[in-house]
Amino acid sequence: MSEAALKQSAIRVLPNASGFGAEITGVDLSRPLDAASVEAVKAAWVKHGVVWFPDQPLTHDQLEAFTQQIGPFGYDPFIKPMEGRPHILELRREAGETARNFGAGWHSDWSFQPEPPSATILHSKVTPPVGGDTLYADCFAAYEALSPVMQKMIDGLVAIHSAALPYGTKGLFAHEQAGANDRTMQIIVSPEADKTFPHPLVRSHPVSGRKALYVSPVYTVGIEGMTPEESKAVLGFLYNHMTQEKFVYRHKWRENMLTMWDNRSTLHYADGGYDGHLRVMHRTTVAGDRPR
Ligand code: SIN
Repeated sequence: MSEAALKQSAIRVLPNASGFGAEITGVDLSRPLDAASVEAVKAAWVKHGVVWFPDQPLTHDQLEAFTQQIGPFGYDPFIKPMEGRPHILELRREAGETARNFGAGWHSDWSFQPEPPSATILHSKVTPPVGGDTLYADCFAAYEALSPVMQKMIDGLVAIHSAALPYGTKGLFAHEQAGANDRTMQIIVSPEADKTFPHPLVRSHPVSGRKALYVSPVYTVGIEGMTPEESKAVLGFLYNHMTQEKFVYRHKWRENMLTMWDNRSTLHYADGGYDGHLRVMHRTTVAGDRPR
């Protein structure tokens, strides 16, 4: 949709002052969108990295239908999906639960896959009265803020990704399951998670062409050709750099809000701080392509 056509339509895109993150109103996600609206939503998502739509009560069918307007479903491993809904994960934490909240580490979803998801879509069903925010980091801006010398140094590097740290046989969830554990979500620990997959450390966005840092402390386990100490030093620097406050947007949820982020240009982190309160979200992913 051209800028002029967007002005004529009911869709309103209200970006944050930084340009990272935008609220979208004037659409009803419970109905099929026309082609121009889908285009406008996708354009805002690519441009702003994370977009949210307040006041969108959706059934499971409607959440699935909206997801498929963005693209085909992605593949979600290691978490048991909702009964009868293979493409919806319920991120549920009960009021009395003491296990660490799911997603509490910076990551880009399923970056260990050969073709990680382009989008993740999260729909809030029950939000706690305190805490439970999601933090997003702008990986375009973080890359662009590096010196030209540093950019040149990291541009050709290949990072190794793996699901081992959370989901592997010696991972965090394996340890959790070996002890007393009150987690509601059913996590599937598997030797599959111990596999590794290489991706460019700096990826070019397939739509905008902008370059973004593509590493995370949850899923990146090293840099090809470097010693563990060298990898740790370079990755440690990058993690500190990309999660600085100036690159981070803190997203506050309200019930029935749908948020969609671009895993190709953002990291996210599920903040806790809501012990004693129920939080329920429904999540889908959209398939992506091989990072380049
Ligand atoms: C995630 O998808 O990593 C969890 C996000 C959240 O629950 O806020």
